[in-house]
Amino acid sequence: MIEQRYADLIRQINQWDHAYYVLDAPLISDAEYDSYFRELLVLETEYPELVSLASPSQRVGASPIEDFQKISHQVKMLSLANAFSLEETYSFFEKAAKELDRAPESLPLFSEPKLDGLAISIRYERGLFCYAATRGDGQIGEDVSHNIKTIRSVPLKLADEHPPDILEVRGEVFMPKAAFEKLNQLAAQNDSKRFVNPRNAAAGTIRQMNPKFTAERDLQFIPYGIGEYQGLLDFKRHSEILSYLTSLGFKQNPHTYAFAGSFSAFADNYQQMAELRDHLPMEIDGIVYKIDELALQTTLGFIARSPKWAVARKFPAQHISTPLLAVDFQVGRTGVLTPVARLEPVFVGGVTVSNATLHNMDEIERLGLCIGDVVEIHRAGDVIPKVAKVTALGLDRKAIIMPLSCPVCSSAVKRTEGQAAYRCTGGLSCSAQAAEHIRHYASRKCMNIVNLGTKLIEQLYNAGMIKTIADIYTLTLTDIAELERHGEKSAQNILDSIEISKTTKLSTFLTALGIPEIGEESAKTIAKHFKTYPAIAEASVEEIMQVPDIGPIMAKNLVEFFNETKNRAIIAKIIAAGVNWPNEITTPTQAQRLAGQSWVLTGTLSIPRQEAKALLESLGAKVAGSVSKKTDCVVAGIDAGSKLTKAQTLGVKVIDEAAFLAEFVNVPKDDS
Ligand code: IVH
Repeated sequence: MIEQRYADLIRQINQWDHAYYVLDAPLISDAEYDSYFRELLVLETEYPELVSLASPSQRVGASPIEDFQKISHQVKMLSLANAFSLEETYSFFEKAAKELDRAPESLPLFSEPKLDGLAISIRYERGLFCYAATRGDGQIGEDVSHNIKTIRSVPLKLADEHPPDILEVRGEVFMPKAAFEKLNQLAAQNDSKRFVNPRNAAAGTIRQMNPKFTAERDLQFIPYGIGEYQGLLDFKRHSEILSYLTSLGFKQNPHTYAFAGSFSAFADNYQQMAELRDHLPMEIDGIVYKIDELALQTTLGFIARSPKWAVARKFPAQHISTPLLAVDFQVGRTGVLTPVARLEPVFVGGVTVSNATLHNMDEIERLGLCIGDVVEIHRAGDVIPKVAKVTALGLDRKAIIMPLSCPVCSSAVKRTEGQAAYRCTGGLSCSAQAAEHIRHYASRKCMNIVNLGTKLIEQLYNAGMIKTIADIYTLTLTDIAELERHGEKSAQNILDSIEISKTTKLSTFLTALGIPEIGEESAKTIAKHFKTYPAIAEASVEEIMQVPDIGPIMAKNLVEFFNETKNRAIIAKIIAAGVNWPNEITTPTQAQRLAGQSWVLTGTLSIPRQEAKALLESLGAKVAGSVSKKTDCVVAGIDAGSKLTKAQTLGVKVIDEAAFLAEFVNVPKDDS
């Protein structure tokens, strides 16, 4: 049934495609077409084994490459494991030897330069070129026969009177260095796009739709093995296969060696190749070491996508110099500002590099680096490129300065004593840190909002529904239910868990704020010592350092965190939303505790002014409109102006809204 439906869909869609693309006479509406197409895609996802090469899905996509035919490799095209040192190379074969129960020195090895191009499999049937395919994902590649046929080093007929029935020759297509230079010179003259390296040039050329252009470019092919074959082939060694391929008319990889697997043999071979590298006509990015005996290869087999009998020892980072154009500062998830070098783009270690990390300000100082200098870039394997040293001082040098405020949220940037890192103190309000903060805040060890997991936080954050931890408390049923995969019931569960989490402990709340260096244990000690939130928020570095086990860095981080008004405003909102820590408040009796006092409210508060006033009055205070010497306390909200200044001049006590709420709202109701 399904096969039939699938076949019908393919036939139908192909017919419509033909009418649309070839005859220019559409038969159905776009919407109808799309719905059939979607059905086809669903079938193919559910039954991948059904997927047919004739399926129109195989050519869906925007890029022109999708128009090439897909080719499935009967024998998978594998990749190679990488080694970046002599030790890694040796231990790769030591492991193989162990598995084969042999001494590493007894392994028959074969080395070949690792050509820097792209893998191609060329199929010959009864000695004639049949097709050529790219590696693709190893299983399915693309038919690039029309382009490969233009490569003169690829025989169209094998030089063998009795060729095998089927033979897939596998190797690397690459552009020699000289051809690459010529191509880029031409591109510069014509003002057209330049390729960044020979590998990209080769790949770009192979993806040409028109073989006429490919033929104009000097591509080459060198085999390194075989894929599927049928017929009279009886080889004992990999090197015999390579010799056979040479006899069939293929080019040979230069500088191959047969040797045994001792540590010193690897070292000698590597040294020799590293010296040859720059003198070779083509780019090579390492050396491939293979166990030569095919029977041993078979015993070892594969792991993941690479053989256990071959490894690529990659050449180390190439050192290339380029001018430092500027330095930007990136704010990480934890608020640390990392200087990033913006470079004049250069080709190094196989890619074009235009950014590199500078780690921190100490590193910049160590390098003696200024904007305008010429710097050396290192890159090894997949490692992020880094600036290694200054090779020439710039003519117009500009010092690299850490910004005073965060490039993302404008909060103050501070350096923690004794540490190299500078941090944005915006904590809760900095969007670069927000998602991580929210995740931390809701986590089990913090507010323990059980139904608010990482995935959901990401969804809510990406949808703009929560920007800070305070926004968790303004979420509504409709907000959550609107998100994918959340029905009303699960939305209600989420809201319920938020509600349940509101009653917590002061130490837990403090941990949840995610202040650098303040973890669960230190938060407990601090909470135990200060007892109330306002006492913590108002404490000085010296006072905090009185707390056992709390050092100067933690103390400074705490003070900097609470000095940032944006953080305080967020906490105020959270407390106003009902987050409380009832058991830790030690006030004996709440009723009339402010009797006879005169209070003033100023600035913007997150709870209605009337509510705050009523609260103060219920505790016995009078709420006045202006500040005088008689005022006992001023509650200063956001953007408090002249009243705050006056209070400060008169030396009247001032507390912010968070402290006010924590002190008076966040307390157990008096039963009496
Ligand atoms: S052997 C089963 N030999 O490197 C092992 N690969 O990183 C098949 N390459 O996909 C690969 N020169 O495209 C082998 N002499 C060489 C090579 C070589 C270049 C490429 C090849 C492969 C990639 C793996």
